[in-house]
Amino acid sequence: MGQEVSDIQDLEGVGPVTAGKLRDAGFDSIGALAIAPVRELVEKASLETSVAVKVSRAARQTIQTDFITAKQLWERRQTLLKLTFGSNNLNKLLGGGLETQAITEFVGEFGAGKSQICMKLSITAQLSSKEGGLEGRVLFIDTEGTFAAQRVYQMAQAMGLEPEKLLDGIIYSRVYNSDHQILTVDHAFKICQEEKIKLLVVDSVLSHFRGEYIGRESLSERQQRLNSHLHKLLRIAQALNLAVVITNQVQANPQAFFGDPTRPAGGNILAHASTHRIMLKKASGGLRVAKVIDSPYLPESEAYFQITEKGIDDAAPKSRRED
Ligand SMILES: Nc1ncnc2c1ncn2[C@@H]1O[C@H](COP(=O)(O)OP(=O)(O)O)[C@@H](O)[C@H]1O
Ligand SMILES: [Mg+2]
Repeated sequence: MGQEVSDIQDLEGVGPVTAGKLRDAGFDSIGALAIAPVRELVEKASLETSVAVKVSRAARQTIQTDFITAKQLWERRQTLLKLTFGSNNLNKLLGGGLETQAITEFVGEFGAGKSQICMKLSITAQLSSKEGGLEGRVLFIDTEGTFAAQRVYQMAQAMGLEPEKLLDGIIYSRVYNSDHQILTVDHAFKICQEEKIKLLVVDSVLSHFRGEYIGRESLSERQQRLNSHLHKLLRIAQALNLAVVITNQVQANPQAFFGDPTRPAGGNILAHASTHRIMLKKASGGLRVAKVIDSPYLPESEAYFQITEKGIDDAAPKSRRED
């Protein structure tokens, strides 16, 4: 590492005015600057392009993000952590648990259990690593107003934990439109660093975007904003070794002749941004089935679970329970 630089104002080319503009736009640490695209420094912090390029380069050099060897990449993977779902079936499905340094997307129809999983993970994230947790706090970005503190309380109590202590470890943000959502994530790097966040939830990621951008003309603008939003989430996950969970709805798939008549909303942008995509479905007998539909290294398998007082629990489909 080079010289000790810890504040953005210590970077070459950053005086008090530039530092002020950067901080106002949410770029309040060298880490946040190093992972931001130059275009964002220009647009969001109103910097001249030449200044933005210089600042970005200085930040990257400070934390040396530009080139790493594949061995370093492998070593970084060794620091990856896995968070328990409190369900062996789901843990197994995800290769041991929910991964840090990645975006995991849960897709499913209304009532499939997406928010229940998010709330459950908000509890397990705070457990010790021995218990399968990440020993960190949670940032919960709620776009639909469906987060329920009383439900988290109930889950924690049923798990024999201290509900109030766990509720205290969840930083909650209700966002009311896509601009607000983008702004919240723009400022999330600092909060995540300061508050020792280990799980960042966006439940659900698309609803505001879908509601606000109606019609084909606005689709490309929507997808561009969504793309930059999702990449910011991924960069936070990687830079701070935390887990990001997003949820998404399904939409009708008119091209489906066989199989599933629905598909995840959000098109290719969302498909590419999510590291792992898990489809949730209601099954008979009140069970739920989770299926890996897209992942660079998880096999396409299924897991059964049910929603209970404790949040989520293992379950077996009827035919298997009888033998
Ligand atoms: N305390 C509970 N015990 C059992 N099931 C519950 C409990 N609370 C909610 N549920 C079930 O969770 C489901 C809603 O799941 P949710 O995660 O909100 O769906 P979505 O995928 O739309 O986010 C409902 O079917 C509801 O019955
Ligand atoms: Mg929900």
